[in-house]
Amino acid sequence: MCGIYGYVGSNAISKTLNGIKKLEYRGYDSSGIAFFSDTFKLNNLIKNYNNNVTTFKNGINIIKEQGEISKLEKIINVLNPKSETAIGHTRWATHGKPNIKNAHPHFSENGNWVVVHNGIIENYDELKNGLTSYNFSSSTDTEVVAMMLSKFFNGNVLETIVNVCSKLVGSYAFAILNYKEPNKIFVAKNNSPVVVGYGENFGVVCSDLNSVEQTKSLFILENNQFAVVEKNNVEVFNNKLEKINLKPFKDFNSESENSLGNYKHFMLKEINEIPKAIEKTVVNYNSFEKIKKAIPKSLIKKLKNILIIGCGTAYHAGLIGKKLIEEQCGIKTDVEIASEFRYNNFKPNKNTLAIFVSQSGETADTIKAVKMSKAYGLKTVAITNVKNSSICFEVDYVIHTCAGKEIAVASTKAYNAQITIFYLLKAYINAVLNDQPELVFEESKNLIKIANVIKNNKISEQTKQIALKIKDCKSVYLIGRGLDYYTAMEAGLKLKEISYIHCEAYPAGELKHGTISLIDENKYLFAFVTQEITKEKTISNINEVISRGGKVIVLSQFNINNNDFNEFIALPKIDQLYMPLVAITYMQLISYYVSVALNYNPDKPRSLAKSVTVE
Ligand code: F6R
Repeated sequence: MCGIYGYVGSNAISKTLNGIKKLEYRGYDSSGIAFFSDTFKLNNLIKNYNNNVTTFKNGINIIKEQGEISKLEKIINVLNPKSETAIGHTRWATHGKPNIKNAHPHFSENGNWVVVHNGIIENYDELKNGLTSYNFSSSTDTEVVAMMLSKFFNGNVLETIVNVCSKLVGSYAFAILNYKEPNKIFVAKNNSPVVVGYGENFGVVCSDLNSVEQTKSLFILENNQFAVVEKNNVEVFNNKLEKINLKPFKDFNSESENSLGNYKHFMLKEINEIPKAIEKTVVNYNSFEKIKKAIPKSLIKKLKNILIIGCGTAYHAGLIGKKLIEEQCGIKTDVEIASEFRYNNFKPNKNTLAIFVSQSGETADTIKAVKMSKAYGLKTVAITNVKNSSICFEVDYVIHTCAGKEIAVASTKAYNAQITIFYLLKAYINAVLNDQPELVFEESKNLIKIANVIKNNKISEQTKQIALKIKDCKSVYLIGRGLDYYTAMEAGLKLKEISYIHCEAYPAGELKHGTISLIDENKYLFAFVTQEITKEKTISNINEVISRGGKVIVLSQFNINNNDFNEFIALPKIDQLYMPLVAITYMQLISYYVSVALNYNPDKPRSLAKSVTVE
């Protein structure tokens, strides 16, 4: 998690600030910036600010603030410092509370070094024990690294950094300043992504390939590599301090910053973009030939099992994928939560195709699971929304969801696009196994129809009303069977993560085996009834909840509405196989409206980040 941006060149401070703003999706507990400036007498200007916010040592200033970057920006705008070398950081707390003291950058005690860090130093406690004579001002693992740099300094900055990194266990991308080298940013990488580059009169470092500005030459650092970034130049070294000639990265297409347009929040905008996300994803893979380019036919022909792996919403998309592939193609498919897969003693057989679902392509748990699967000898496929994200460099094959940049932390349009891929994949597998290539095109036509149904569906008013009804309740339960259960799981996650209301999803038949004892008149139940085969049984389960006083909101395309339901959402009458794509849109909107009604920011729910790069 966390984001790093650094810049050497004119207006380094505003460049760095804009850079970390683009990375805010990686965390927004606190942020900070360090920059060289002899002339900037910060201490004269900080009367209005708490001393923690700004520090000045050895010609280096640090300004940091708790909370979103806009707060840091306000201070910087008032102080208006100028510099030609700056590093910045936006944080998602791992070690120590999300307060100013723990915000990055961190000075060494003597002020000679400044460090910003992504990742986790696993042996930081042990290392700290060897630094008893140093006074720490934060609880972070990063400050330990700053202190070690000053302890082990041998007169050569790069050599010292390489030496200190050799003592670290864990993951890191560091951007480091040393007071004697005011025109350089030093960079180190191990298991946390970072890119470095330069252009006309500037050098840059960034923890996300897709957020870096246009450069003449850009390099993706590999593990145990180090870089020195200057205006007009970047040098890369290995851990023996030998210079490496890395090939500049060519396939670089910096995505322009999305704007809100007329929307109040990105989440609402992104929900409205779902039809477009489905359409664009379909267009990318709407023929046998197009998917074949992404995943070869030969691979499908010999596959015996499929294993789908992801986290959170991506895991839920995987569950839908399992149901589609298993029932429609007859291929045994398992789904695993990435962080669990890692510690399972389960070795899939070699003819298993491992499919990883990740919107960001940066999720550490998922990437670790890719590495394990490769060690098991499996062929690997990533379904990701971000081109050139870390996962793309790990897997054998990549399928892109084309949902467009997703900025709101709660995933919406990317989820619909992930499911869309599973419909297409199901069609492709059947096309290969039954030698019927036309199945892919037929499937794509069905999906475009569904995109149009969603586009023309006017659901805003009813979802708003329901949001107002449930916003003050303490607990929400969500039930369904089969595909509906998986939709319930995703719906529950969406609602809880941005409204902070406790939500639990259950297979409809499982409620009576314990959880129903929690049902009373203060609880709401959402029930999804979209599959003919499970309709009657789920209605019985709904009635069991009504009998215990629970308030029930039913989503269904069947004519099952009755007076005992607190609310009935009449879903459009489409082929029930595609209901997961449609039913979830109601819940995405309800979740959004609940969050807004409670005066939360749905785009930046507390304690979360868009991309989870720690395990
Ligand atoms: C919830 C949400 C998360 C992500 C999860 C995996 O709305 O967005 O649950 O789905 O953190 O992220 P990716 O898909 O980037 O691997």
